[in-house]
Order: sequence, then structure tokens, then C-alpha cells
Amino acid sequence: MIKPNPFTPKSGIEPKIFLNRTEEISLFLEKIKEAKAGLPSHYIINGEWGIGKTTLLN
Ligand SMILES: Nc1ncnc2c1ncn2[C@@H]1O[C@H](COP(=O)(O)OP(=O)(O)O)[C@@H](O)[C@H]1O
Ligand SMILES: [Mg+2]
Repeated sequence: MIKPNPFTPKSGIEPKIFLNRTEEISLFLEKIKEAKAGLPSHYIINGEWGIGKTTLLN
């Protein structure tokens, strides 16, 4: 069952508060560095509807 979103309960809407993605953003920055150094990779961001995939990428 999908848990209710405590912030802005609509998909595709930018949250007023963006929380708890420090680790994911660090990983992206690391991977961008690797790509710049000539070691590109492919990644899939996978998960249930509403967990914040689109918002993270934006
Ligand atoms: N890190 C976050 N902090 C607060 N709210 C968030 C965060 N990520 C997503 N949301 C909110 O959760 C809802 C669903 O996010 P969304 O990115 O559309 O999910 P998905 O793409 O995984 O279906 C949206 O209302 C969005 O604003
Ligand atoms: Mg999405």
C-alpha cells in the first residue's frame, strides 16, 4: 500500500521542503566526476509511485 505523502501530496509538484537526499546527491556527484574522467555508467532509479524519483532528478 502507498503511504500518504506528508509534504505536498501530488505527483509532479515541487515540494516546498526538499528533505533527506544527501546520500543520493553525493552519489550523483561522484558518478558525474567518474563520467568526466572517462568512466561513464548507466543507472536506473527504480521504486514505487510517489517515493520522489522525479523530484530527485529535477
Ligand atoms: N525529498 C523530498 N522531500 C519532500 N517532498 C518530496 C521529496 N521528494 C518528493 N517529494 C514529494 O513527493 C511527491 C511525489 O514525488 P515524485 O518525485 O513525483 O515521485 P515519483 O516520481 O517517484 O512518483 C511530490 O509531491 C513531491 O513534491
Ligand atoms: Mg515520477
